[in-house]
Amino acid sequence: MRANPGGQLAPAEVVGRDALIANLWRVLERQSVVLTAERRHGKTQVIKKMLAEPPPGKLPVYHDLEGVRTPMEFVEIVLEDVERFLSRWERTAEGVRVLLGKLGGAQAGPLKLPPAVAPHWKRLLGEIMADLVRHQEGRQVVFLWDELPLMMDNISRSAGERTAMELLDTLRALRQSHPGLRMVYTGSIGLHHVLAALRTAGYINPSTNDMKTVEVEPLAPPDARQLAAALLQGEELAVAQPGAAATAIADEASNVPYYIHHIVDDLATQGMPVEPTVIHELVERRLRDPQDAWELRHYLERVPRYYQKELAPLANRVLDLLAHAEEPMGFSRLSQLLEGQGATPGVETIRELLRLLQRDHYVVQDAQNGYRFRLPLIQRAWRTQRPL
Ligand SMILES: Nc1ncnc2c1ncn2[C@@H]1O[C@H](COP(=O)(O)OP(=O)(O)O)[C@@H](O)[C@H]1O
Ligand SMILES: [Mg+2]
Repeated sequence: MRANPGGQLAPAEVVGRDALIANLWRVLERQSVVLTAERRHGKTQVIKKMLAEPPPGKLPVYHDLEGVRTPMEFVEIVLEDVERFLSRWERTAEGVRVLLGKLGGAQAGPLKLPPAVAPHWKRLLGEIMADLVRHQEGRQVVFLWDELPLMMDNISRSAGERTAMELLDTLRALRQSHPGLRMVYTGSIGLHHVLAALRTAGYINPSTNDMKTVEVEPLAPPDARQLAAALLQGEELAVAQPGAAATAIADEASNVPYYIHHIVDDLATQGMPVEPTVIHELVERRLRDPQDAWELRHYLERVPRYYQKELAPLANRVLDLLAHAEEPMGFSRLSQLLEGQGATPGVETIRELLRLLQRDHYVVQDAQNGYRFRLPLIQRAWRTQRPL
C-alpha cells in the first residue's frame, strides 16, 4: 500500500475500520446516525467503504454535499439519487411526477425540476421519499450525506438560518413518518457551529436527537502499527527494525491514519533512515513547518472562526494551559490558573466551554476528572505554534 495522505483509498486500503462499520450497520437497523470526528480522522473513507461493501438488503447512496447552496439543489440531488435506484428496480418516482404535474412542471422523460417549483421543496422532498419507501420492498436505502454541515452553512448564508433549520426539521419529520428511512450525516464541523440556534440549544438538539451519534476515533494502536508497516513496505523503504519503526510512527501520529500516511510519505520523499529518533525529528519539523503541509494550524484557526466572540479568547487560554501542562488538570486548578491570569469568566462559563472543547474533540475528561488534550500530537502542535 502506497502513502496517500488526504487521497481517496480503495476500500481494501481502509485499515482498522471493520468493527466500526459493522457497528454502524447494526445501529442503522434501528435508527439514523450522525457520524462525527475531527477533520481528517477518516469519516469519508469509512462511509465510502460502507458504500462499496454493503451487507445484503442495504442500498447505500453516497453524496458529498459540500457545494450545495439551496434547499432546491439538495432536493435535485436526492431526486437524482432516488431515480437512479428506482430505475434499477424498474420503477419510477410516480408521486413526484404527479406533484410536478400539479405544480406545472415536466412529467415525461427524466425528471427535471423547473425553477418555478422551488418554493415547494418540502413537498417535493416528501414525495420523493414516499416514492422511495413505497418501493423499498425489504431492501433499505441508506443516504450517506458527507459534509452536510457545510451544506447547512451554505444554505444558512444564502437563504438564512431559518431555512437551514427548516431543512433539518423536514428531514427529521421524514424520518419520523417513514420508519424505514435511514440517513447518515457526516462532516468535520459540528452542526452546532454552523447554526447559532443549535449552539444555544447546547446538547439538546431537536432536529437530530432521534439520531445516534457515533464517533470515528483514531485507529486502535495495533491497527495503526499495521497501517504504518504496510505503508513502509508499500514504499519499499529499507527498515532495520520494522516493528520499532511502525510503533514509533503510530505513536508519533497519535494513531491517526492521516498523519501515519504523512510520516511515511515524508520518509519516502526525504530518503532518511527509518528509525524512531529520525521519525520524532521529522514530526518536530512538521510542527514548525511554515508551509504547514500537515494542516495543523487548522486547530488554532478554528477557534476564532467557530467560537462565539466572548468564548474564543477563553478557549485559547484554556487550551494554552492544557497544552503546556504535563499532567491532566482538575477543574479547580484550571479555574485558579485562569483567575491568576486575570480572567474571571465565571464557573459556569468555564464548564460550558469545556463541554464545547470536548464536543469539538480538543479535550477529554479522564477517569479522575482531569482535563487534557485528547491527542498528544495536537497538544504538541498547539504548544509549538503558541509558545508561552
Ligand atoms: N482507515 C484508514 N486507513 C488508512 N488510511 C486512512 C484511513 N482513514 C483515513 N485515512 C487517511 O486519512 C486521509 C483523510 O481521511 P478522510 O476520510 O478524508 O477524513 P475525513 O473525511 O474525516 O476528513 C485519507 O485520505 C487517508 O490518507
Ligand atoms: Mg471527509
